[in-house]
Amino acid sequence: MNLQKIDKYRPNLHFAPKENWMNDPNGLVYFKGEYHLFFQHNPNDSVWGPMYWGHAVSKDLITWKELDIALSPDENGTIFSGSAVVDWDNTTGFFPEEPGLVAIFTHHKDGAEGKPPVQTQSIAYSHDQGRTWIKYDGNPVLRHETKVDFRDPKVFWHEDKWIMVLATGQTISFYSSFNLIDWQFESEFGEGAGSHDGVWECPDLFKLKVENSGEEKWVLLVSIGDNPQFEVGSRTQYFIGSFNGSTFVTEHNDIRWLDFGRDNYAGVSFSDIPREDGRRIYLGWMSNWRYANQVPTHGWRSQMTIPRELSVRKINGSYIVIQRLVKELDSYFSLQEKLDDIHINDVETIKVDARYMDMVFELENMNAKKYGITIHHSENHSTTITIDTISNSLILDREKSGDISFSEMFSNEQVINLKSNDNIQLRIVVDSSSVELLVNDGEYALTSLVYPDKACDSISIFSLEGDVKLKEGNVYVPK
Ligand code: FRU
Repeated sequence: MNLQKIDKYRPNLHFAPKENWMNDPNGLVYFKGEYHLFFQHNPNDSVWGPMYWGHAVSKDLITWKELDIALSPDENGTIFSGSAVVDWDNTTGFFPEEPGLVAIFTHHKDGAEGKPPVQTQSIAYSHDQGRTWIKYDGNPVLRHETKVDFRDPKVFWHEDKWIMVLATGQTISFYSSFNLIDWQFESEFGEGAGSHDGVWECPDLFKLKVENSGEEKWVLLVSIGDNPQFEVGSRTQYFIGSFNGSTFVTEHNDIRWLDFGRDNYAGVSFSDIPREDGRRIYLGWMSNWRYANQVPTHGWRSQMTIPRELSVRKINGSYIVIQRLVKELDSYFSLQEKLDDIHINDVETIKVDARYMDMVFELENMNAKKYGITIHHSENHSTTITIDTISNSLILDREKSGDISFSEMFSNEQVINLKSNDNIQLRIVVDSSSVELLVNDGEYALTSLVYPDKACDSISIFSLEGDVKLKEGNVYVPK
């Protein structure tokens, strides 16, 4: 096989496993100067199979070093998704000398002859910064008599106890514990709330600051599995509300999507980021269950999104989750081209290897029906982002972006219904096989895989049936 062909899709700025299959991020935790990214991994094949936890570490959230496998299947089953925490106060008794990491994960065991699988929660601990793990000998620590979908524990310390947020069918269950071993049921959330298009998976719950105010809101993330009845495949919704240590209450009846692209799933946030830093950092699996096993990479499959800092913004009385690319990304780019106050009334092409762009378009006194940016990956491959000022929507079209033949759904348009279109700011990261778009300083995200011959050759800025002004444009190239 031609090596060039194998590696042309390998990302530069996104984590991808050296080889074989990856899905959800697991056990995201910061400890002793390292960010840990564990991940759902099949080390024996580049399609989903018996799950392990792979492991990578980073000092800056962008460059990752893959380490040995952290957790392997055992008599209780294979290792599904979960989280990790630092046990600062030795609540478990595992750390008499100094604090260490505890992983809380789902053991998944296939059912015997026609019986449903069994999913239970287990724990493991590490004295050496996650390099080696000891499974607790009393595993599993949490089981359920009747629930079949019972998985993906996300654990955090709240006031005086641990809270576990768990996906339980099409609800989220909350449990509490003083030692990560004995768990007590608290409450169940979800009936009649949000989207029930598929099984609920990979929840996360945390408090976020509301921008420019002293207010704080609790945010519950819930990923929804692929359901062939619907077009979009797997995606993530969120709820804004309150949590009193036992029960979560949502404040809204509408469905809120975290990302309007097809390729951001099962995302969760890092635990134990130091208080002085104060950020809530999130990353997702950049794929979609509808075609994840078919994407045209060879020998490895899947990558994570760029980590994003989360906050909440109040817009017209509603609270919205905001996503910004982590600031650590900036040091990987240098400014190549400044495009300020440019009047566009057709197409302007800029020959630059644009991998990071920040563009502010202004419609004031302008009349474009449509305008936007085309990323010319190579001579034959391009991805187009169009803002339609009549329907007030943003459309990402990847029909000509490269290889789309592996899934019928892949070429479908990805759409954001915008609330207003006066000034639009687009921040775009282009890597070898992805386009990540954040609109209006993180108000909307659209994450999309692409499989072009090359990452980027040039970009065009266009307007159709009228004019638009590019008020501010910054085009960056990799350093
Ligand atoms: C989500 C998910 C989780 C599960 C894992 C298995 O993508 O289905 O619910 O723990 O993947 O790999």
